[in-house]
Amino acid sequence: MTPTSTVRSVTRWGLLHGTVRIAMKRAQKVGDLQAAFMTDPRYRDDPFSFYELVRARGPLVQGKFGNVTADHAVCSTVLKSDDFRAGPDEDAMPAPIRRAIAWSRDPLALGPIDPPSMLAVEPPDHTRYRKTVSKVFTARAVEQLRSRTQSIADDLLDRMVGLPEVDLVSAYCTLLPVAVISSILGIREQDYGTVLDFGHKGAPSLDVGLPYRQYRVVDGAIRGFQAWLGEHLARLAREPGDDLLSQLVVAESDGVRLNDSELRATAGLVLAAGFETTVNLLGSGTVLLLQHPEQLAAVREDPTLWKNAVDEVLRLEGPVQMTGRFSLRETELAGRRLGRGSLVVTYLGGANRDPKVFEDPARFDVRRPNARDHLTFSAGRHFCLGAALARQEGEVGLSSLFARYPDLALAGPGRRRTTRVLRGWESLPVATGALQPA
Ligand code: HEM
Repeated sequence: MTPTSTVRSVTRWGLLHGTVRIAMKRAQKVGDLQAAFMTDPRYRDDPFSFYELVRARGPLVQGKFGNVTADHAVCSTVLKSDDFRAGPDEDAMPAPIRRAIAWSRDPLALGPIDPPSMLAVEPPDHTRYRKTVSKVFTARAVEQLRSRTQSIADDLLDRMVGLPEVDLVSAYCTLLPVAVISSILGIREQDYGTVLDFGHKGAPSLDVGLPYRQYRVVDGAIRGFQAWLGEHLARLAREPGDDLLSQLVVAESDGVRLNDSELRATAGLVLAAGFETTVNLLGSGTVLLLQHPEQLAAVREDPTLWKNAVDEVLRLEGPVQMTGRFSLRETELAGRRLGRGSLVVTYLGGANRDPKVFEDPARFDVRRPNARDHLTFSAGRHFCLGAALARQEGEVGLSSLFARYPDLALAGPGRRRTTRVLRGWESLPVATGALQPA
């Protein structure tokens, strides 16, 4: 990094994380709910007890840093509303802060929640990016990937034959989505390790209040990823394949192509979102099914239930637990007036256990009639672009695993990921049981 990049990086950490850390510590001392959630390690393992505290206080709770909600209707309203935007409304900030943010935004280190990432922009740019990606990422293209997903799953399960015990996360849950998304994006197998390493180190970029040491690791991973992606895109531009990314390089929306930084942000988001989330669906799904043998028996008896079982896993153990929105103007929400620039944190994992919507919400029930009404893929304009693919990977991945290894059992406590926005397993030792012939 050049000296200027280092100063930029420190400034950015200070603005995004350092100030938040100081404020969090102060707020924690006066019993602020949000601060307790972000700092208390108990809630990292069990955020659900926290969501119930929020719910008990009302549909929209004012904290020191903004408002929080675990209410399904309120989350849904905010996510679908035109009165709110993703990412802060920088125009509403004092000019010196606005200038500092703009200056510290290093074009070589833009992460998944920095513009021009789709997650951080709003119409008209958002509409254009989304339209362009949707041209290549069609429902038909995803459905055509089913047989590819199946053969990748079979191949990975073959590799586990003869191993009495494996870490399911590294042997299967991670590699399945990585191999699928890589085949979509034309990434060579020799690059999986590099990309995975960037993804894993960069994943905490979605959290706030990171210590500086951790921020440096995240920042380094994002820079490395951006540099790798630039080379990868240049290669595809020279030698286009039949993958979706080669199509995205030349795709147009209303006659306009994505420019270089838009293309990198879009491709990077699709890639990172493709493997940092579905891995958690597969890990959490395996654990839930092993812990509820009667539910596993139900899907075995009636495999048409797998689709619903995947949505029930997504509802109960969402791989993305929260997101947030900022109000664009003075507005009313849940009977309260919010000023311009107000933050509303939507706990998706809390909305998914709202008893007003889901009966006996903490129960894992693969037959639940409205399991699909969860908010794990968000709602509104930013609704997850990869939802169909993720559901398909969940269905193929979990059903193939349990068909191939019917006596699969947990072989230890496993280790949870330490991130707060993303929830899942970092490692999951399993005994493969009686081995089936390939
Ligand atoms: C179980 C797996 C997944 C979960 C839980 C998930 C969750 C989400 C959520 C919550 C958002 C919206 C965040 C917000 O509203 O602020 C989102 C957006 C997005 N996701 Fe996913 N995702 C998953 C898998 C995927 C996959 C496989 C892909 C890629 C193929 C993908 C690509 C995207 C993209 C591009 C966006 C941005 C959409 C926009 O802003 O318009 N996701 N995802």
